[in-house]
Amino acid sequence: MARYADDAKEQVREAVDMIDLVGTKVDLRRAGANRYEGLCPFHDERTPSFGIDPVKKVYHCFGCQASGDCFTWAQEMEGLGFVEAMEWLADRYGVTLERESEDPKEAERRKQRERLLELLERTAAFYVRFLWESDEAATARQYLVDRGLDEAILREFRVGYSPSAWDKVLMASRRAGFSNRELYEAGLAQKAKGEGRIYDRFRGRIMFPLADIRGRVLGFGARALRDNQQPKYLNTSENDIFHKGRQLFAADLARAPAARAGEVIVAEGYTDVIALHQAGLKNTVATMGTAMTPEQVGELTRLAPRALLALDADGAGQEAMIRAAKVARGKKLELRVVELPPGRDPADLAAEAGAAEIRRLVEASVPFVKFRVQRALATGDLQTAEGKDRVIAELRPVFADIPPSVLREELIAEVADRLQIAETLAAQLLGQAGPAPSALPPVADEPAAARRETVQLTAAEEQERGFLALCVSVPAAGAKSLAKIDLDADLTTNASRAAAAWLREHLEDPEDGLDAQDERLQVLIRDIRFRAPNEPPPPEAIEAERLQLALARAERDVLAARRAHTGVDDARRRHKAIQEEYFAAVDRVMEAGAPR
Ligand code: CTP
Ligand code: MN
Repeated sequence: MARYADDAKEQVREAVDMIDLVGTKVDLRRAGANRYEGLCPFHDERTPSFGIDPVKKVYHCFGCQASGDCFTWAQEMEGLGFVEAMEWLADRYGVTLERESEDPKEAERRKQRERLLELLERTAAFYVRFLWESDEAATARQYLVDRGLDEAILREFRVGYSPSAWDKVLMASRRAGFSNRELYEAGLAQKAKGEGRIYDRFRGRIMFPLADIRGRVLGFGARALRDNQQPKYLNTSENDIFHKGRQLFAADLARAPAARAGEVIVAEGYTDVIALHQAGLKNTVATMGTAMTPEQVGELTRLAPRALLALDADGAGQEAMIRAAKVARGKKLELRVVELPPGRDPADLAAEAGAAEIRRLVEASVPFVKFRVQRALATGDLQTAEGKDRVIAELRPVFADIPPSVLREELIAEVADRLQIAETLAAQLLGQAGPAPSALPPVADEPAAARRETVQLTAAEEQERGFLALCVSVPAAGAKSLAKIDLDADLTTNASRAAAAWLREHLEDPEDGLDAQDERLQVLIRDIRFRAPNEPPPPEAIEAERLQLALARAERDVLAARRAHTGVDDARRRHKAIQEEYFAAVDRVMEAGAPR
């Protein structure tokens, strides 16, 4: 965190509105002073065990022990690292982050980079203005309209047009104080062969800005308008800022819709994405034509747990899907395939058949393995024995990834039917099933956050944490009862002991002074804090609760004595005595609670 001033984190925390932040992912219901609750987004549940404290800006789930503050929330939900999460929150809640004095060289590099980003941003805006305002761009406007894209969606994607003159961007940027070198480094200018002269790289093209996940323009894809203009797409060449293979086009616009839908649609081209967004499928991104890279798969898994591949239905598109599946293998990403009619890309389809039809096709996506099997059957030679063996050989690794399931059985039946062999033989030739379904990526509607297992506490531990929670809610009485506890004997786990020991010293403000590195103790204290009742109980209840722990201990002692065949009577006597004390304490609670 060396890049930001020390108090940056606290400034951001201060500014965050926790109800707003968590409320975008969880339906929250007020559940007491400083408490809202809802269904946990980290594990499956029907009744809420998840809650937030909007003042302390923390969340906690009793069910799975997912627990943290506004920063860990942004990290988990948005798939960001800590610094990114802080920047994301700062941006969202209007905090300007102060940087602490950094290594001068590093500072220089960062400033330089920020200038280049600013230049790219200005240039994108320049191209947009030029598209909508210049006479020269009339053909481009007409072309875009003919492709069925309206102005609103084109503006949302900041689609523009680059003037055909050699130096429009150059001149405008110089006037704004940018050097030739900066233009060159941002990928906007290029050198003429032989001479040192530089000129605009993009001329007379439709400009698609490529932005990073936060919406900052990194470079452009530029489409030719005329037939003799080569190449069809000219991209910013790879430089310090722009790496085409690491980015997904429209990741910034698709991020929130993809997280909400639990799935992200992957198309090939710029126009496909824009057309799908216009058709209401705002969770669409594009790989920009290249074979899917591991970095892009990584980006996809951050966006959603499930990706629907909507690549062109030609052979190349289908091969691309198969390659994509290889890259995604072993990653937590469920792949499905959107089956498009041959020779049509999503943009054509949306224009010809309409938004409803394209949505229907997306809706009808099939599991990747099903597509894969159908493709092998469609392209293989099913007439000869050798041909059939080749199809089987091609499909064996595919079936190795399919867990025992109805889908698997259906696919085996389909292969058997098409190869005209017995199902038992097909099953045998296709080999063993993959891992059990639980080891595979989740298939239900799930948010982008990692899924968690529920954590089951023992009854004794529940009781111990309940007691500690009462102590926190009435510190004066709590301190007295806490002092009477025998940490080793009255408590059953090291977690309870650690919590009780901490609370003995910090009952008034349990979070204050907690070691930021000690995550276990932090979660534990938060768990106890979240158990505290809304209304502080009468002080008498705390002592009754303590006696319940003592009683449980006495019961354990009786059992142990019985097993050891010694001291059983003593243990029973102590148990009886504590029971008396406990009953008396319960009576006092009743009296305290009764109307006077
Ligand atoms: N692409 C590229 N460079 C190329 C060709 C293609 O970067 N020389 C990328 C672009 O992102 C393009 C995608 O690959 O959007 C798909 O290519 P293609 O299907 O040829 O283009 P479309 O986007 O479908 O363009 P259009 O529909 O306008 O013909
Ligand atoms: Mn295309």
